[in-house]
Amino acid sequence: MHRELHHPLIQSLVNTLRDTTIDAFVFRHTIKELTKLLLYEALCKEILIGKNVLTWDGEKQYSYINEEEIVVVSVLRAALPMHEAVIDTLRRAVSGFLGIKRDEFTHKSVLHYDRVGDCRGKKVILVDPMVATGGSLCDAIKVLKAKHAQSICTLNIIASPEGISAVMQAHPDVEMVVAKIDKKLNENKFIIPGLGDAGDRAYNTL
Ligand code: PRP
Repeated sequence: MHRELHHPLIQSLVNTLRDTTIDAFVFRHTIKELTKLLLYEALCKEILIGKNVLTWDGEKQYSYINEEEIVVVSVLRAALPMHEAVIDTLRRAVSGFLGIKRDEFTHKSVLHYDRVGDCRGKKVILVDPMVATGGSLCDAIKVLKAKHAQSICTLNIIASPEGISAVMQAHPDVEMVVAKIDKKLNENKFIIPGLGDAGDRAYNTL
């Protein structure tokens, strides 16, 4: 299943990212703001657990997100600001990282780094700002399934229709929460209109 968010605040923040005159700090900051909104939506049906807490009026039980059962995984490198935003909110969540690079010529993604532990019984929140062909996300999901993730939800800033179809076809059980589905991919597999290279823009890589 995939969900595109049509809220005016989301649209406005996505369009801020399209402006190439913003610097890397503003780019990362805007990505983080958007990620918090995507996370809010992704967790809207989350079942809470009861915990005893010491309140000003004695010990009481209240409901909380079971953060310890959540694993936040980012696809390096463009997803790093998204990762920071998620773990700032879910402070007890476990973090994992996957290095996946799309080959510039073949456009195929290649996994070169895996620092994700066993995900048995865990909900995985997988973050990657861009879904172009969907190859990187599909590869990441395959790795997470091999690690026995109980459920996988992705947070994405911009996706192409082709990328959404590829991921949904290969992994219909995964939930994608997307800020904006753009028009198409061009012949070089770049999202149109898109943002350009999100990793380069976030970190001023030349
Ligand atoms: C970008 C982006 C995704 C991937 C999307 O990363 O962050 O991970 O490409 O393309 P796909 O859907 O066709 O696989 P890139 O490989 O450029 O690495 P980077 O994060 O280091 O910029």
